[in-house]
Amino acid sequence: MKCEQRLAAIRDRRSMGVGFVGAGRMGTQRASVAAMHAAVRFMAVADTDADRARFVADKVGAQFSSVRPAEVIEHPDVDVVVVSTPEYAHAEPVIHALSLGKPVLVEKPLALTSEDARAIEAAVAEHAGDLFIGYTKRFTRSYVLAKEYINRGCLGRTLGGHARVYNSRAQAFQILKRSAHATPVLDVLTYYVDLIGWFLEGNEPVEVVARGQKGVFHEAGYSAEDLTWALLTFADGAVVNLGVDYALPEKYPSMGQSPRIELLGTEGVLLLDEEHREHLLYTNKGVRHGYVPGHDINLAFIGTSSSGDFALGDFWGPQADETRSWLDYLATGRPCILPRAAEARRTVEVTLAIEEAVKTRAAIALQPACT
Ligand SMILES: NC(=O)c1ccc[n+]([C@@H]2O[C@H](COP(=O)([O-])OP(=O)(O)OC[C@H]3O[C@@H](n4cnc5c(N)ncnc54)[C@H](O)[C@@H]3O)[C@@H](O)[C@H]2O)c1
Repeated sequence: MKCEQRLAAIRDRRSMGVGFVGAGRMGTQRASVAAMHAAVRFMAVADTDADRARFVADKVGAQFSSVRPAEVIEHPDVDVVVVSTPEYAHAEPVIHALSLGKPVLVEKPLALTSEDARAIEAAVAEHAGDLFIGYTKRFTRSYVLAKEYINRGCLGRTLGGHARVYNSRAQAFQILKRSAHATPVLDVLTYYVDLIGWFLEGNEPVEVVARGQKGVFHEAGYSAEDLTWALLTFADGAVVNLGVDYALPEKYPSMGQSPRIELLGTEGVLLLDEEHREHLLYTNKGVRHGYVPGHDINLAFIGTSSSGDFALGDFWGPQADETRSWLDYLATGRPCILPRAAEARRTVEVTLAIEEAVKTRAAIALQPACT
């Protein structure tokens, strides 16, 4: 069935079956939200780890589970697919689902290589597919409002800005253990490249210069820098400084991302502090980190998990809103504010250019989005 017909059928009956490929942290969170959505009547879960597939299927009440992703993607009761596999394993299940005309939500980044990102973009075009990329940060309330105020012209012409994000090395090592090439630039700074691209919509990034410094990740055998600063220039001359340090000490209080974004225009300025230093928990008992198994901290900036938190028997935060918004889009046509393949591919290529600029110390010219 073609994707357009499938979407029309879902909207006609206002119900759908959802397949989950990858049942780790993100897959579990998204499936928990979907299980409570009024339009979801069937769920299937795949994970290459059989115990994980079965455990998550039981937890969310899914009707089917498998160790083979193809069995879930091809399942006749599965209308739409969520791909929550590690960063290097997005392309295969996404292209498979698109080839069957099934709408897909895939985790960020779209891919770790330009080749994979372009192959996914080509599959969307070939099958007239429906793909959104889970840049969950877009669902942070202050960023939604920033986009609204920019659209209303409150900043005038945007001259540039600043976006930087800090976290403890405890979480970075979890990411690197899963995907050794998912560096903080490709895996985390990607959210801020996406956000800045969204805020400056219609203004293409054209050049990047960057510097980085190696430290604890290099000592542990990874190629990633501890700290990276980049300067991105846009077609109209706007300049944005981007930075990431995911190597702060193990017990640093962030439970995910502690970012700050500043946008400066001819008529106004937006200063968005999301570090949550004003949302503190201190406890002698230790509080469990949501992403890092067995990692307890005494001082926590609560609310800094990038996706959200389980609390009071439910999952809360930007990823809960994002997943519900995508399911609403499928069932009712409600607009979805996530990026499509071309935008996400460009984000992958900007982050790859940042890595290249760090290595070569040269200014890297970026190709226009449509090439
Ligand atoms: N939006 C957000 O807030 C957010 C936050 C963290 C991670 N992410 C992204 O989500 C993705 C997954 O991250 P995670 O933290 O859930 O990782 P995870 O390691 O917790 O989960 C990945 C799961 O995929 C399974 N898997 C591996 N290869 C597979 C394959 N080929 N087919 C099926 N299953 C496979 C693994 O067994 C594991 O259970 C990554 O792309 C990551 O960047 C998004």
